[in-house]
Amino acid sequence: MPHGRITGWATHLPDKVLTNDDIAKMVDTTDEWIRERSGITSRHVGGTVTEMSTEAGKAAMATAGIGPEDIDLLLLATCTSDQQFPSSSAVVQHALGLTCGAIDMNAACSGFVYGLVTAMQFIDGGLDRVLLIGSDALAAITDWTDRGTCVLFGDGAGAVVIERSGEEPSLLGWDLMSDGSAAGILYCDHGGKIVMNGKEVFRRAVLAMENAATNAMDRAGVTSGDIALVIPHQANIRIIEASFKRLGLPMDRAAMVLHRTGNTSAASIPLAMVDAIDAGRIQPGDLLLLVGFGAGMSSAAAVIRWDPPQA
Ligand code: COA
Repeated sequence: MPHGRITGWATHLPDKVLTNDDIAKMVDTTDEWIRERSGITSRHVGGTVTEMSTEAGKAAMATAGIGPEDIDLLLLATCTSDQQFPSSSAVVQHALGLTCGAIDMNAACSGFVYGLVTAMQFIDGGLDRVLLIGSDALAAITDWTDRGTCVLFGDGAGAVVIERSGEEPSLLGWDLMSDGSAAGILYCDHGGKIVMNGKEVFRRAVLAMENAATNAMDRAGVTSGDIALVIPHQANIRIIEASFKRLGLPMDRAAMVLHRTGNTSAASIPLAMVDAIDAGRIQPGDLLLLVGFGAGMSSAAAVIRWDPPQA
C-alpha cells in the first residue's frame, strides 16, 4: 500500500520587516535584551492568513509539479483566521482554484504538526493528495504597547503537499497532546490581543517539547541519536536550548529561522523545515523530528523519514 510523503514545499513571508531597533522605538526595550532573552533579531509583519497561505500553497503545488485539480483536501493550520467565518481555508481554496474540502485547524503553534499527522490519516483513508498549510498573522493580534509579548511574534506561512506515493511509511511516530488546564497562560479573546504569562509558558514549553519528542521517538522506535535534524517550533532560542539539553540533542542539529522570523505560530515549523531543505541540510532517508508547543497548551511531535520524489 502506498504511503503519504511530502512531495512539495514552500513558504511565504510578508515584505515588511520589523527589527528589534524598530520595536525599541515603540516600547521600553533594546535590541540586546530581545536577542539575549529570545534569540530574535527581526520579524516579518503585515500579512493576512489568506494572502500568505495562498502564496505558500501555490508555490508548494508548483514544487510538487501538480495543479489545483490534483488536491483532494486543504488543511489550513491557523489560530488567526482572517474572519470569524467563513474559514480562511474556504477563501484560500477558492483563491488557489481547488475543488475539494477545506478545513481550518486551530492547535495554535502546534498546528502544523497536528495538521501533518491529520493529513497522513486522510491519506491512509484513501485520499491521494492533501495540501497542508501552516499560516498565522500574529502581528494583527499583538499588543504593540506590551514589551513582554510584542518582541516575540511575527507573520508567515509554510505549505507542503502530501501525496500517497511513498513505498515506505514516512510518518514513523507521532504524539499529539493538549492540556486545557493551562489555557489561561496564553490566550487571545475575540477582538482582543495576545495575553501571556511568559515565565509559565516558558517552563511548561520545555517540558512539553521533551515529552512530545520522547513519545514520538519511542513510538517510531528510534532515539535522539537517530535523528538527523530536529525542526522545533521557533518561539525562543532558550526554550529550544533547554529542551535539547533534556533530550540529549546538540544544538547544531536544530533547524533555525527564529532570528529572522520571530514566533510565527503554525508557520514556524514549515518555515524552518523549508529553510533547511534549501540549505541542503536535509537528505533523502534522513529522520526528522518535528516538535512544537503552543497555546492550549497544545504540544505535538512527529518523526518522519525524508522521502521526496527523486528527480
Ligand atoms: N525589554 C526589556 N525588558 C523586558 C522586556 C523587554 N522586551 N520584557 C520584559 N522585560 C523585563 C521585565 O519587566 C523584568 O523586569 P523586572 O525584573 O524589573 O521585573 C525582566 O525584564 C525579566 O522579565 P522576565 O519575564 O523574567 O524575562 P524572561 O527571561 O522570562 O523573558 C520572555 C521573557 C517573554 C522572553 C520569556 O519568558 C519567554 O520567551 N517565554 C515564553 C513565551 C513564548 O514562547 N510564547 C509563545 C508560546 S507558543
